[in-house]
Formats: sequence, structure tokens, C-alpha cells
Amino acid sequence: MVAAGRPLVEPDAPLNVPVVLSSTFHAGGPIAYARSSNPSWEALEEVVGQLEGGRALSFASGMAAISSVLDLIPNGGVIVLSSHTYSGTSARVRDLEAAGRLTARLVTIDDPDEVAAACVGADVLWIESPTNPAMEICDIAAAVAAARTNGVRTVCDNTFATPLLQQPLELGVDIVVHSATKMLAGHSDVLMGMAITKSDAIWTQLMRARTLLGGIPGPFEAFLALRGVRTLALRLERSQANAMVLAERLVAHAAVTRVRYPGLPDDRGHAVAARQMSGFGSVLAFETVGGVDDAEAVCDAVRLITHATSLGGVETLIERRRRWPEERADIPENLLRLSVGIENVDDLWADLAGALDTITN
Ligand SMILES: Cc1ncc(COP(=O)(O)O)c(C=O)c1O
Repeated sequence: MVAAGRPLVEPDAPLNVPVVLSSTFHAGGPIAYARSSNPSWEALEEVVGQLEGGRALSFASGMAAISSVLDLIPNGGVIVLSSHTYSGTSARVRDLEAAGRLTARLVTIDDPDEVAAACVGADVLWIESPTNPAMEICDIAAAVAAARTNGVRTVCDNTFATPLLQQPLELGVDIVVHSATKMLAGHSDVLMGMAITKSDAIWTQLMRARTLLGGIPGPFEAFLALRGVRTLALRLERSQANAMVLAERLVAHAAVTRVRYPGLPDDRGHAVAARQMSGFGSVLAFETVGGVDDAEAVCDAVRLITHATSLGGVETLIERRRRWPEERADIPENLLRLSVGIENVDDLWADLAGALDTITN
């Protein structure tokens, strides 16, 4: 994270790859035109590629990376995905299905038998673990084994876990995707996506898809994302420690009916997560007593915590996921997603407990 993606060491060379603002490059080199590549992206790609254990490509957003990966599915192909896949990915798959481009098979991603059965005759298995926002854990090694038996390509959205907690390529996954907007960049100031693979053939296909679909990031975004990645380990260490404390305290609060966090020993995904991940991450979800109004009241009452969408930044964010029309109807109306930041945990708890008290008192 700290040492990779640096310019050559020579007298007076800068320590950081600069923001390279040029739409074209002198002829004769591998870049040629800025829709193909840019030195500012390449520095970030070197770091994220090394972290995930493959070759990385930068995209304009997580959805641009996801769309380019979906574009590789053959016409009429079958994609297997969790019914609780991130709402943007799910919506795109639904649109592609409505256009007759592919068929989607929705599964319960933490049920290995269901995943294995759905892989028969499929082209791609799309894994997200933990899922956003239901926080389900997929047994990635078991899913990859079932996919391989059936000649199915595997993709894993590793946004929630980050490469520090979970390494899908090492578990046999073919392509990892990220919303780098979240933990990787980490400061809620940039949108970017990444795709990483060990396969040169897939990398070349994705490079072509990126160049021709044109979902490329700006060089300043790449600079900011790399600046964020440099401190990923420190931010993650603090935010996931905070998340564990808040999860435990939420369980004991009278206004909370259920907490979903794989770090809790009685969480449905705990055993698999403990085996597969080296930490449980910084996002959790919980359900409050009452209905929509009570859940919204908690979001309105917090002061240190920010009522906003997104996740993975240094600041703690809360939102009711069902306020989005794209969110699945089986996500409870009163489910609040909490992306835990790096603030003082007692300050966070005082704020959250105070907001929860407003709906119990
Ligand atoms: C798990 C996951 N994947 C992908 C995305 C999409 O990323 P972006 O918003 O950078 O396009 C998100 C966004 O929230 C996400 O949570």
C-alpha cells in the first residue's frame, strides 16, 4: 500500500506519480491515447493489483467496472447472483434481462447447495460477500468449486471486505470488482471502480471493454484514490474495531430488534466469515423497533454521524436502505445500514444511543 505505485527512484524525481492531464501522448509508446491508459491510473492499478494478487484496471465508478465485466457475458448467457446483490448491479442485470441480453438466476448466496444447483448450465456466478446491505456471507471457496465443476466463470464484488480482509483471487475467483469509491479511496471525495484478474486473457478482454465502452476515470480521481489506498490498513483497523464495539452495544439496546454483522458470534455468517476473512469489516446493518418513521427518526436525530448514502469513508454514515426504490422488497423497511468511520467510538455510541433513545422514550 505504501511502497508500490511510485515513480522511478532518481534525483529530484517526485515521490508520487503526478496527475497526468493529457488526452494524447507522443507516438511510439504503449499508451498513445488517454482512453486506453494514463500514468496516474497505472500507479493505482499497480498497488491494487498487488493487494488483490492480480492485474488491475481502473474505471470511472464501481458500476463502470461492473458493467464492463457484465459486458463479457455471451449473448443469451446465464448469470447466477444473490437476490441481495448491491441494488445497482441487480438493476443493471434486470435491465439486461429485460432487453433479452441474458438470463438471471437469483439465489440465496449463503446457501452453498442452492448456489451449486444454480451453476448447472450457467455462464457466470456473481458473488458479493458480505452482501449490501443484508450482510450475508458466501462461502467463496465452495461457490468457486461448484462453478468450476460446471465451467462457470466467477466474479466477486470485494467492496465491503477490501483485499486486506478477503482475497477472492486466491480462493479461485476469476475477476474481482470494487467500488473504489468506498474503502479503497476512503474519504467520500471520489468515484472510481476497479477490476482485477490473474488471467491475461480476461485482463485483455476487460481492457478492450473499458477502452471501447469508455468508462474511464479522470487522472485526478486516480490520484485521490491512490492517496486514500496508502492509509487503507490504518483506516480499516480503526473502523472495523469501532464497528465491532457498536455492533455489540446495538444488540443490547432496547430500540434494536436485530443486528447484522458477521463479527457477532451468533450471526448466520460468522463461522464462514471467521474462516474466510481476516476481519469482519466496517459496515453493519440493524433493524429498529417500530416502522419506517421510527427508523427515519433515528437518521434525523444523529448529529456526529451523517445521514447519507455510501460507505467506506472516514466518517460514519447511516441510512435506511429501503428509501431507494431499487432496493429489494425483502430488505426490511426499518433496516438501517451503518458505515462505521474512524471517529472516537464512545462519541459515536453516545450519538447513536441518543438517537435510538428518541424512539424508545
Ligand atoms: C457493493 C457495491 N458494489 C458496487 C457499487 C457501485 O459502486 P459506484 O457507486 O462506485 O459506482 C456499490 C455502491 O454503493 C456497492 O456498495
